[in-house]
Amino acid sequence: SYGKINIAIDGPAGAGKSTIARRVAGLLSYVYVDTGAMYRAATWYFNQLGIEPEDEEKVLQTLPNLVIELIPGENGQRVRVNGQEATEEIRSLAVNAKVSRYAQIEGLRNRLVSLQRQMALRKGIVMDGRDIGTTVLPDAEVKIFMTASVEERARRRYKEMKEQNQITMEQLIADMSERDRLDQEREISPLRQAEDAVLLDTTNMTLEEVVESIVSMCRTFVRERELG
Ligand code: CDP
Ligand code: CDP
Repeated sequence: SYGKINIAIDGPAGAGKSTIARRVAGLLSYVYVDTGAMYRAATWYFNQLGIEPEDEEKVLQTLPNLVIELIPGENGQRVRVNGQEATEEIRSLAVNAKVSRYAQIEGLRNRLVSLQRQMALRKGIVMDGRDIGTTVLPDAEVKIFMTASVEERARRRYKEMKEQNQITMEQLIADMSERDRLDQEREISPLRQAEDAVLLDTTNMTLEEVVESIVSMCRTFVRERELG
């Protein structure tokens, strides 16, 4: 892994993090890690067991049984939870509605953060989430904080939704704003821009422009490091 670096991408829901992180990883032959999928997988699991996020004691008791597998595949990553296929369901409205409440639980965060750090020990990782630049990989060589207006983020997310008939655009904007608020206001590792992160407002940028700007930051970093 000589010459490889780690790239941290954080930001609010629908900013374009996962789509862009995946493409950047593809272009650099790096490995993409979707940490949001891990919080979603945990949410799906506790939901199935009927354990509410307010019942923290029960969540922590059950946590050792939780096994999350992120499996890279041709049509994107698959997610399995305790051997059960959950790829589609972790993106459902039911999971959206609850994920930020489970994500406030310190013991759950500690467990997932330690798994995420292990994945990044070997450099060449593009990891996206909310606390990657601040908490998970504070030493990442390139850090991006990606944003866009909430209307643009909701518009992008709506287009790719399977449950369009179950929700209006207004409701989606409200749901996203509420999730952003919970993520920004929580006590442990809230969503915020790391001091050394580069702010990228993608409201008026195409996917290609965003990908290109991140890849060029990474190439510049590696070149300058090699020059000493
Ligand atoms: O794709 P989207 O932006 O809708 O969300 P996600 O990245 O899949 O993350 C879902 C939720 O997981 C977030 O709203 C956070 O509550 C939580 N999360 C977190 O707390 N820390 C992370 N590193 C990643 C996700
Ligand atoms: O991971 P995150 O929640 O930040 O966002 P995403 O799921 O990667 O992006 C949401 C949608 O916005 C995807 O369908 C992207 O293709 C789209 N998008 C876009 O149209 N233009 C951009 N500059 C970035 C994302």
